[in-house]
Amino acid sequence: MHWTRTIPFSALSLSLGAGALFAASLTAHAQAASTPSARQASTETSGNEWWRHAVIYEIYPRSFQDSNGDGIGDLKGVTERLDYLKNLGIDAIWLTPIYPSPGVDYGYDISNYTAIDPTYGTMDDFNNLVAEAKKRGIRILMDYVINHTSDQNPWFIESRSSRTNPKRDWYIWRDGKGETATSKGQPPNNWQSWFGGSAWQWDEKTRQYYYHYFYVQQPDLNWRNPEVHKAMDGVLDLWMQRGVAGFRIDAVSRLFEDPNLHDDPYLPGRNAYGDRNIQHKYTDDLPEVHDVLKEVRAVVDRYPGDPVLVTEADEPNVQALTKMYGNGDEVQLPMDFQIADVNELSAPRFRELFNQIESNTAHGQPEFFFSNHDQRRQWDRYGDGKHNDEIAKLMAVLELATRGTPQMYYGEELGMRTTDPARIEDVHDPIGRRGWPKDKGRDGERTPMQWNGQPDAGFTQAGVKPWLPIPPSAATYNVATESKDPDSIYNAYKRLLSLRKTNPALRDGVQTTIDNNDPDIFAFLRRDGDATVLVALNMSAKQRTVAFDLSKYGVSGTRLTPLYASPSQAGMQPAGHVDLAPFAALVAQVE
Ligand code: NOJ
Repeated sequence: MHWTRTIPFSALSLSLGAGALFAASLTAHAQAASTPSARQASTETSGNEWWRHAVIYEIYPRSFQDSNGDGIGDLKGVTERLDYLKNLGIDAIWLTPIYPSPGVDYGYDISNYTAIDPTYGTMDDFNNLVAEAKKRGIRILMDYVINHTSDQNPWFIESRSSRTNPKRDWYIWRDGKGETATSKGQPPNNWQSWFGGSAWQWDEKTRQYYYHYFYVQQPDLNWRNPEVHKAMDGVLDLWMQRGVAGFRIDAVSRLFEDPNLHDDPYLPGRNAYGDRNIQHKYTDDLPEVHDVLKEVRAVVDRYPGDPVLVTEADEPNVQALTKMYGNGDEVQLPMDFQIADVNELSAPRFRELFNQIESNTAHGQPEFFFSNHDQRRQWDRYGDGKHNDEIAKLMAVLELATRGTPQMYYGEELGMRTTDPARIEDVHDPIGRRGWPKDKGRDGERTPMQWNGQPDAGFTQAGVKPWLPIPPSAATYNVATESKDPDSIYNAYKRLLSLRKTNPALRDGVQTTIDNNDPDIFAFLRRDGDATVLVALNMSAKQRTVAFDLSKYGVSGTRLTPLYASPSQAGMQPAGHVDLAPFAALVAQVE
C-alpha cells in the first residue's frame, strides 16, 4: 500500500468555536499540571529544544524483541535492547501504540487509552522502560491516536447502546438516505474509508450509520464535542505524568468532517480495493484541526522538558505542511511525507523539496523519514535492484546530513527489506486481504528486527514461531553480522549518527543547496560560523566528476577532507575535481 495521498489539498472554511473548548480544557489541565508528580517533574531542567538535535527511532513493539517467547515483541524486549540503541546513537524512541486493543489495526484501534496491552507487558514494564531509557539519555514518545477509537472502547459501546446515551455524540452518527422501518436505506453520503468501501457503517440496534475513516472497527471520535476534548486531554496528562517526552499524533488531518455532509468529488480510475477514486475534500484538513493541535500543544506545554509533538499528516504540499507549525503554537515536527514519498532517486526532485521545506514561511524545523510501519521500506523503494546497499547508504546520508530532525524506522540501519506475504492466507493486515494481490498490506514492512543470523533472527526464543516470518535476507543483514563489517549499512549509520552529534556544522549549520542544475548530483553545504561541510550525493548509476566552485557561495576553502564517504575515500581532494562513483555519498569538511 502506498500511504500517500495524491489528492489536492482543499481547505474549507468552517468556524465552530473551538476556542471555547480550548479554554475549557486549559482549565482542566492547569489543575492536572499541579499534581504532585507534575510539580516534582517541573523542577527538572528544561529540554532546551532537544528535538532539534535529536534522532527519533520508531519502534513497532510487536516486531522489535520478544522477551517472553510468545513470538510477539514486548516492552521488556525494548528495554533489553536499550544499550543497542544507545550505542547506535539515537536520542528518542517513538513507540507505536501499546494500549489495550483488539488488534484489528494492530494497536491503532484502542479500547483503553490509559493502560498497557498485556501482549506488551504491564504498566510496571512501561515505567521501567521509561526509567531505563532516561538513564541512557533516551526519551520516549507515545502514539496519540486521536481520530478514532476501537469499536470495543467502552466509550463507543456506550455510544452505540442508544440514541439517548450521554456518549452518543462522542462519535459521528447520522441517518441513512431513504431509510424506512424495514430498510437501512443508503449511507448518508459517498464518503469512503481509506481502507476501502463506504466510510459509513449501519448499526442495526439504533438504526443509524456511524462514520469511520479507517476500518469499520475504528469509529471516528466527534471532535466537535467538548467532552471528547476533556477525555482525550486527560489521556495526554496521564502519559506526560508517566514521564514521556511527547507524542506522535496519528492521522491528524482526518479529525473533522464537513457537518453538511457534502459528497466528495470522484476522480478517474479505481483503487486497489475496487472503489472509485475519490478526493477526500470534505473529510481531510479542515481548518478546525489546527484548534485541536493548539490545544494539544498547550496541554503538553504544562509539563517540563520541552515536550515535542510530531504529526502524521500526509500533506500534499509544503504550504499545507507549514500550517502544522501554526505560529509556533502547534507542532514542532510535522512529518514530511512529500520527501518520504519521492519514490525515485531523483536529484532535481529532492533538491526542489528540500529547498521548499528549508524556506518554509513558519521557519519550522523539518522532520525527515523514509520508512515506517505504513510505508514500504526504503531499501526496496529507492534501490534499483543492483546497487541497493550503496543506495541505502546514500539514503542514510540524505536523512542524517540534512538540516532537520531525522526519524528512523527500526531495521533501516541494517538495510532491512520489505518482505510481503507470499499467500493471501498468510496476510495479517486486513487491507492486504481486501486489496490482494494489488495491495498486499503492510506486513512486509513490519517483519521482526534482525538481531543475528539464526533462524529466529534473535527476535524470539529458539523454536518459537514469530508473529510474522523472518525474511530470508536476515541471514546476512543483521546486527551481529553487520557490526563486524566496516562497510556494512549498519556501520554507515553508526558513523553518520556520531558525525551528526560531533560536527557542529552538521548538527546546527544552515543548509544551502549548490549546483542547482545538475541532473544527477544533489549537493549542499552545511555551514556553522567559519566551518563548512559539503555533502554530495550521486543519485545516478553514472561515474561522475564534479567541479564545485564554492567561492560562489562565499566559501573560501577549496579542499575537501572526507568525514564520511561511501564507497570509502581517503585523503583530501580538490573541490574543483571530485570523483563520485555511481550512487556515491560524500560528506566532507571544506578547508
Ligand atoms: C496511521 C497509522 O500509522 C496506521 O498504521 C493506521 O492504520 C492508521 N493511522 C489508522 O490509525
